[in-house]
Amino acid sequence: MIFGRVKSLDAILATAEKKSLHRSLGAFQLTMLGIGAVIGTGIFVLTAEAAQKAGPGMMISFIIAGFVCAFAALCYAEMASMVPVSGSAYTYSYAVMGELIAWMVGWALILEYAVAAGAVSVGWSGYVVGLIEHSFGLDIPAKFVLGPFDGGMINLPAMFIAGLVTLLLVIGTRESATVNALLVVIKVAALTLFIILAVPVMNMDNFEPFAPLGFAGIGAAAASIFFAYVGFDAVSTAAEETKNPQRNMPIGLIGSLAICTIFYLLVAAGVIGSVGAQPVGNGLEPGSRELAAACGAIGDQAVVCSKEALAWTLREIGWPQIGNLIGLAAGLALPSVILMMMFGQTRIFFVMSRDGLLPQAFSKIHPKFNTPHVITIITGIAVALFAAFFPVGQLANISNSGTLFAFAAVSIAVMVIRRTDPGRHRPFRTPAIYLTAPIAILGCLYLFFNLDQKSINLFLIWAAIGLIVYFAYSRSRSHVGRGHVEVHETDADAPPQPVPPAPSLGKD
Ligand code: ALA
Repeated sequence: MIFGRVKSLDAILATAEKKSLHRSLGAFQLTMLGIGAVIGTGIFVLTAEAAQKAGPGMMISFIIAGFVCAFAALCYAEMASMVPVSGSAYTYSYAVMGELIAWMVGWALILEYAVAAGAVSVGWSGYVVGLIEHSFGLDIPAKFVLGPFDGGMINLPAMFIAGLVTLLLVIGTRESATVNALLVVIKVAALTLFIILAVPVMNMDNFEPFAPLGFAGIGAAAASIFFAYVGFDAVSTAAEETKNPQRNMPIGLIGSLAICTIFYLLVAAGVIGSVGAQPVGNGLEPGSRELAAACGAIGDQAVVCSKEALAWTLREIGWPQIGNLIGLAAGLALPSVILMMMFGQTRIFFVMSRDGLLPQAFSKIHPKFNTPHVITIITGIAVALFAAFFPVGQLANISNSGTLFAFAAVSIAVMVIRRTDPGRHRPFRTPAIYLTAPIAILGCLYLFFNLDQKSINLFLIWAAIGLIVYFAYSRSRSHVGRGHVEVHETDADAPPQPVPPAPSLGKD
């Protein structure tokens, strides 16, 4: 039966209680945490891809994606406050909808985190290569800095940053609250500077035609740009450390989303208004060889051809040095998003392995560094390979497919548990749940089916492989299936040393 093998919520919570983390985070810190996790490749790089899909209509795409996230965030907040342990959507699903669904959610989260880390690595590469080329007047051969679909061969800088972050994770680097705050300031300052320089030179004619590829284009761009909002779930994982979560959790979740949305809209308006954002070649697929060729034919003289859209725009409107500064800001700040994603990935793997669903070797801990080094290195190799060969937009879309699945699962779980366990203490209750959760689910479905066909197919293939692995390997080895639901003496988050629930939560 598919809903069998539910992991008892009490057993999960008993583990969490042992953590007894100090409730120290207020609304402000939560909001900073959210912004730190959210702002990244989405706005810095995918703005160009969104423009290729929707033209100026991408403004609507940003709003649609932001709305879907806001509704999903409200559902996350209730689950996170009720089940404040690691594993996020995987753990929630295990407690509410059983092992098979939890497995599928965990399997989809691999797409969310590992593939997203690859996407952000490619985004980082675009900015850093642009910065080096423009600062030192170099022309680095495209062969080594772009993947094969973008007109190159291998993206070495993207592999480098993925490798570096893996190394940092293996030796146990965590981002401290201060570093997170500093990086948030750098990112926000970079976007603010961009807005200050680009918005005043807007030419309203550039907004015409507003939707050159119709509503289909706007939907497709929304499905891609959804990536720009991913990461806010990091806020929900901090539920256990939040003071007055009923009040602060929604402020943190919705606040960070709202702030990001406002920045995104202003930045998008700045790009469109200042340099124009019409698609090239009548909507050729971003990240395709055809678009790379069409861009080559016009000397890359369109924002949609740029791998560093914001820096490119500033150079075009006469601020080359500030363009380089934006490149520097992206170069400094994006690795923390990669770190966050890869950290999340290793944690999901770890929890799944500890539950017996993945090989125990995955949860091996390094004797000196005290980190799950085996799984970190495997994750790092996968991320580096994704980053080396695939275009950023494709990776973002694949990541989105997994994220949307997980968001929908959490939105279902939160309704199910209201029915099955109505008396349980909920520090935060999703407002109007039977309206909010269905809207979140429909929104996720809408965005999912607006992804490009390749990403949808890949998701389905990935899900099919997941099912095979589950029935061939995991099901018979599951600890819950074998009847031992252990309550670990150590932290529920696994690595035997207590670790903060999100990389940016460490105390200095
Ligand atoms: N939202 C994150 C980014 O845009 C994943 O990089």
